[in-house]
Amino acid sequence: MDNNTIPVMEPDRQYYYMNLCKQQLLDLRTKLNRSVTYCVTTFGCQMNAHDSEKLKGILDEIGYEEIEDEKADFVIYNTCTIRENANLKLYGHLGHLKKIKQKNPHMIICLCGCMMQEPHVIETIKTKYKFVDIVFGTHNIYKLAELIYKHYEEDELVVEVLEKNDRYVENLPTKRKYSFKCGVNIMYGCNNFCSYCIVPYVRGREKSRTPEEIICEVKRLAKSGVKEVMLLGQNVNSYGKQYAYDNDKISEVESDNVSFPELLRLVCKVDGIQRVRFMTSHPKDLSDELIKVMAEEPKICKHLHLPVQSGSTEILTKMNRRYTKESYLELVTKIRKAIPDIALTTDIIVGFPGETEENFLDTMDIVEKVRYDQAFTFIYSKRSKTPAAAMDNQVDEAIIKDRFSRLLQLVNKVSSEQTKRFDGLVKDVLVEEINHQDNSLVTGKTDENVTVHFKGSGELVGEIVKVKLNECRGFYYLGERI
Ligand code: 5AD
Ligand code: SF4
Repeated sequence: MDNNTIPVMEPDRQYYYMNLCKQQLLDLRTKLNRSVTYCVTTFGCQMNAHDSEKLKGILDEIGYEEIEDEKADFVIYNTCTIRENANLKLYGHLGHLKKIKQKNPHMIICLCGCMMQEPHVIETIKTKYKFVDIVFGTHNIYKLAELIYKHYEEDELVVEVLEKNDRYVENLPTKRKYSFKCGVNIMYGCNNFCSYCIVPYVRGREKSRTPEEIICEVKRLAKSGVKEVMLLGQNVNSYGKQYAYDNDKISEVESDNVSFPELLRLVCKVDGIQRVRFMTSHPKDLSDELIKVMAEEPKICKHLHLPVQSGSTEILTKMNRRYTKESYLELVTKIRKAIPDIALTTDIIVGFPGETEENFLDTMDIVEKVRYDQAFTFIYSKRSKTPAAAMDNQVDEAIIKDRFSRLLQLVNKVSSEQTKRFDGLVKDVLVEEINHQDNSLVTGKTDENVTVHFKGSGELVGEIVKVKLNECRGFYYLGERI
């Protein structure tokens, strides 16, 4: 290859490699006399799901055909490492893939995402899973085509994991799961260092995209038929903040950058966008201005995901969450006063090191007091590098299991009671799909993120329609269009 012809600038460079891969794929197609397929499997959060849409966009552009089967010619796992069981799941899948690959010599196995940012994982792959072909991390998913081409040329394991997220490449092809709703990254990374969490180590330092870039993307999405956007970031409330870094010390620097509430107002102004959601909000950074914007802007969905993690101030301090049980409850009161019918959801960790029965009862108490519409509950998982992994008093497994099941019972009870509050109301529902079990029904979501099934056909998919919520079935509704 003549290096002089390779573009240096992105995204041109990646389009150049997509073209090379296209040629190479055409040859393979001719040789096999069939289409060449891919399958992307995504673990973890909304961010990963959104990244997978970018991976699929590149593979489509190259000419691969998507199938939902791990027997595909090109298999990618976009991994998660937030809890240990996410890692174990991947190794389980890899064992299975090894057998499939033995039967298909053209198969390429590619691993990317958060788990690949951990050096011990790369070591394990190199020694125990030698049949893997391409590995990259969270900071260079835009390079998929270049890495595929490198593997094609060198015919050996290609590993490219970067420690830092110093560049973002936008304007590459993406393949959206839904034509009418889409995630939009507004920031990357996290600077909070909650003591249990591996995210700041694998996703790097917090970096906000410019408002111009974001609005330009939202306008483009609206033009292509998107009605609902979900603004994505590990902590959207710190959007626009600037930081100074001095070794391990991170301090916020004054700036007149656009803040998150201001960004929300700008996004709401985009014609065609009818619903705006966002995720995730750290309680410590949730401002009065945000509450005001949520109350005033009809396009912003009346749903707030506000992870509490624990109801015990003692545990919250050890978690480095920087709020107390009382200040969280005050915040909830303030939010409910401004937006009375808002749906609140949360994340809760059970069994953080040193958690006593009394601490746990504080968590049960906060669930009762806040009355969450939905709560995602997790068993604490020890993650390497995090401060909590080195803490004494790791809680006994049997005690954690008992607490977890008591908590689950409570959150299920509370959230089904909360869901009932919409009984008989007429709500705007964005129809997402034809119901999988009964194709005379369609399924959609209310503003508050409640799932509703009602009689209707495929033409309704992507439309916002008025639906009466007739029958509450625990966490979802059966309704009728009016
Ligand atoms: N163990 C258990 N749960 C965790 N989470 C993050 N790190 C851990 C961990 N080490 C949970 C938090 C977070 C959600 C995305 O995952 O509740 O909000
Ligand atoms: Fe992890 Fe805390 Fe950052 Fe969320 S805010 S990603 S829990 S460190």
